[in-house]
Amino acid sequence: MDPVYLDHNATTPLEPRVLAAMMPALEATGNASSVHGFGRRAAEAVETARDQVAALLGVRPRELVFTASGSEANNAVLGTMSELHGGGHVVVSAFEHPSILAAAARLEERGFAVSRVRPEPTGRVSPAAIAGELRDDTRLVCLMLANNEIGALQPVAEVAELARARGVPVLCDAVQAVGKVPVAVPDLGVDYLTVGAHKFYGPLGAAALWIRGGAGFSPLLVGGSQERRRRAGTLNVPALVGLGAAAALVAAELEGWARHMARLRDAFEAGLGAIGGTAVHAAAVPRLPNTSNVAFHGVDAEALMVRLDLRGFAVSTGSACASGVVEVSETMRALGVDEEVAAASLRVSFGKDSPERAAEWLLAALREEVEALRELAAAGARR
Ligand SMILES: Cc1ncc(COP(=O)(O)O)c(C=O)c1O
Repeated sequence: MDPVYLDHNATTPLEPRVLAAMMPALEATGNASSVHGFGRRAAEAVETARDQVAALLGVRPRELVFTASGSEANNAVLGTMSELHGGGHVVVSAFEHPSILAAAARLEERGFAVSRVRPEPTGRVSPAAIAGELRDDTRLVCLMLANNEIGALQPVAEVAELARARGVPVLCDAVQAVGKVPVAVPDLGVDYLTVGAHKFYGPLGAAALWIRGGAGFSPLLVGGSQERRRRAGTLNVPALVGLGAAAALVAAELEGWARHMARLRDAFEAGLGAIGGTAVHAAAVPRLPNTSNVAFHGVDAEALMVRLDLRGFAVSTGSACASGVVEVSETMRALGVDEEVAAASLRVSFGKDSPERAAEWLLAALREEVEALRELAAAGARR
């Protein structure tokens, strides 16, 4: 059997049609800032990509800043708060991506106050809990659209409405949402939004930050005048062309992709009963159609992941074992999941091209491996 890749929340394969769109740009010469024909053609390709991303998100192209990664885009927004205000307060959900949590911690080191709002055990952050943290000196609220580990969708529009009433801007990290659920910026009412191509079948090295017209911004990278002086550095033309092409595919095909992924995800979760002793995280709230994070009670998920890898299945765990100590992920910690359950949790993330029988194959392998690991654990306990 060919290896089965079920780790699409980590990164997605490059879609062949995206690669085909990128090829001319990979072969061409030309710095998009140059005024000669080579440069102009490169710049035109970048502007086409900007139009494609803008069309997908429902925003004006000039409000988009291209970056090299979602992490960079998130860092740029939090860094802006320090540049513009020097101090104050920010509110983040406690299970944001590390690129937001670490950037918030850096603000804290610089004298900001940071409120970390824990999600409810269901996996959803309560808008009232965020609203309850807002202060007169709150500079920013950060809430992701979809959590990367458990897939739970967050009430971003409601939070944005509450924040706007207090004049507080909102950053929405939509990196994990694009390509899985519709993302229409005008419906969200946020001020900053980030996306990254490699999560929706585009290339690595291309991402975008949308900044509402008039919202404050201070560049993370300074130097050249690229991106209307909002992000210095020679534009990565082939990668940005790929970002645009991937965005156009999402715009045209998302519905079918989502249906396929949800079918596999649902078949997978329906089959868990036969294994027994399982619990799906965030099962009771709206989730991404492709993500299933499951605790296999009494099983070490790291060991399970390795065994599945040997059988050709790529899945992931949120908890990393560093030097023999299991580090529980921020997401699991924020959810208040106990350590044993967190260490037993495995993330399966399906993709638009996952084989129709992927769920069935994975379930068959899991039945054997989970049983083997439970037997080993029981034997260890008897010794
Ligand atoms: C929710 C979320 N935000 C941001 C990122 C960071 O994106 P990048 O890998 O492009 O830096 C990720 C990547 O895993 C993510 O899942």
